[in-house]
Amino acid sequence: QRHLISAADLTRDDAVLILDTAEEMARVADRPIKKLPTLRGRTVVNLFFEDSTRTRISFEAAEKRLSADVINFTAKGSSVSKGESLKDTAQTLEAMGVDAVVIRHGSSGAPYRLANSGWIDAAVINAGDGTHQHPTQALLDAFTLRRRLVGRDAGLGQDLTGRRVTLVGDILHSRVARSNVDLLHTLGAEVTLVAPPTLLPVGVETWPCEVSYDLDSTLPKSDAVMLLRVQRERMNAAFFPTEREYTRRYGLDADRMARMPEQAIVMHPGPMVRGMEITAEVADSPRCTAVEQVANGVSIRMAVLYLLLGGNEPALTHARTTEE
Ligand code: CP
Repeated sequence: QRHLISAADLTRDDAVLILDTAEEMARVADRPIKKLPTLRGRTVVNLFFEDSTRTRISFEAAEKRLSADVINFTAKGSSVSKGESLKDTAQTLEAMGVDAVVIRHGSSGAPYRLANSGWIDAAVINAGDGTHQHPTQALLDAFTLRRRLVGRDAGLGQDLTGRRVTLVGDILHSRVARSNVDLLHTLGAEVTLVAPPTLLPVGVETWPCEVSYDLDSTLPKSDAVMLLRVQRERMNAAFFPTEREYTRRYGLDADRMARMPEQAIVMHPGPMVRGMEITAEVADSPRCTAVEQVANGVSIRMAVLYLLLGGNEPALTHARTTEE
């Protein structure tokens, strides 16, 4: 594949290859000099039309660890504010000789349009588009799940068959939920979505997962519980249920966490709203992998960039060459 647009485009073998390559990349982060020469002479643009903390910084760290030349573009402060289109912005970047574009956009489908438009030759990586997809988030979540539930070494070559993952919250507006349902299903996990009826999309019954309105009955049957932020910025109408009612029924506090199996983990893609979908006590507990997910994101993005742009040699060969 030349692009990474949707988690649904990945086969089981594609996904396992990315997770295994990310394990190799994670070894680079453990070394005093956290760099590989793999993308020396290649240029990557981070094209962010929507706000981001984790994804933007994580891609930049991954690109720099692979020795790419990095150009950061944010719509704020650019000629987009003067009315310049995605096509003209992309062609401006193409004229500067870009090998890959990492794009975050508020409109679902913008990365697909860019990849299939003929406007540019560069590889396109979706860093989150509207309510549609966020494939590298799903990959870093799967990486975290595999490490925690299967093991770092034991997990190599393995998928997530039979692991029970519950996603709780604003499924309606969540590209993280859509990407995770697609990827976790491909990797053999059993996924349950838990949300109030008002925060579930039309047609969710056709997705490859279970759906429930009741968090308390789902917790004891979960190996991992992933909490999703309620995306008020994407809502036109008044939020229903109220924040207080939402927290009472769907917020994860210490009492609810105690109902999960002993080894089960709590996940959050960030940004977290402490006091709403998660209490500070749960967010700061050793069972919560939110910070670990961020660290794993760099390894996953290195793996994706390496596999899309890198040479034909296995990642380990590069790692060894640099070490010597
Ligand atoms: N998880 C995630 O996409 O976070 P950012 O919006 O901060 O990139």
